[in-house]
Amino acid sequence: MINYTLAFACSQDGFIARHSRDNPFEWTSKDDQIHLQNLIKNNEWQVMGRTTHELNPNKTRKRIIFSRGTDEIKLINPNIKNQYYFNPDLHQWEDFERLCKDSVLILGGTKVHDFFLYSKLIDSMYITVEPLNFKEGVPAFSYINFSDIIPFFKEQGFSSQEEIINDKGTKLINFKKI
Ligand SMILES: NC(=O)c1ccc[n+]([C@@H]2O[C@H](COP(=O)([O-])OP(=O)(O)OC[C@H]3O[C@@H](n4cnc5c(N)ncnc54)[C@H](OP(=O)(O)O)[C@@H]3O)[C@@H](O)[C@H]2O)c1
Repeated sequence: MINYTLAFACSQDGFIARHSRDNPFEWTSKDDQIHLQNLIKNNEWQVMGRTTHELNPNKTRKRIIFSRGTDEIKLINPNIKNQYYFNPDLHQWEDFERLCKDSVLILGGTKVHDFFLYSKLIDSMYITVEPLNFKEGVPAFSYINFSDIIPFFKEQGFSSQEEIINDKGTKLINFKKI
């Protein structure tokens, strides 16, 4: 069985980016960046939307990129192995799971979070809340207010634990399917 972990960093008002081409490395803490590197190290595959992939290209990581611009599961670049376009509207989930055995890290953006939430595939989730307020931007999920996330996931059968991970007050919340 594949293990799915969703991880994102956000502002206190629940935005994962200030605008759709924002680079979170400009505002996330060093502590969150180390946490993310550890998750990347511990999960063989990553899944993300096309925008997030294009903002963070990487030739060596194993990635599946959601895009409606593809009608077949195919390599993004014939010179880069283990990076595929996948269109969940058209392709079978068993084909996704045939590509990435073992563990998958879900890395955004909003509609990718929505997809995994509503398909009930998430096993664990990490939310890093940075002590910032953006007032507007790209939300973590389309249909859940950020302030409702903890009760929502508890209702879905997750436990949650939180800790402050630095002097600035960055909070890390860890959800696990019970
Ligand atoms: N703070 C964080 O932890 C974090 C994490 C991830 C991303 N981000 C930031 O969030 C922003 C991007 O997020 P975003 O939500 O605007 O875009 P995104 O999810 O990265 O990419 C959107 C694109 O992905 C494809 N896609 C998404 N869901 C799909 C689905 N269910 N089926 C088929 N294709 C799907 C579509 O590609 P096509 O147009 O090709 O059809 C869509 O246009 C960036 O600023 C990024 O840096 C932040």
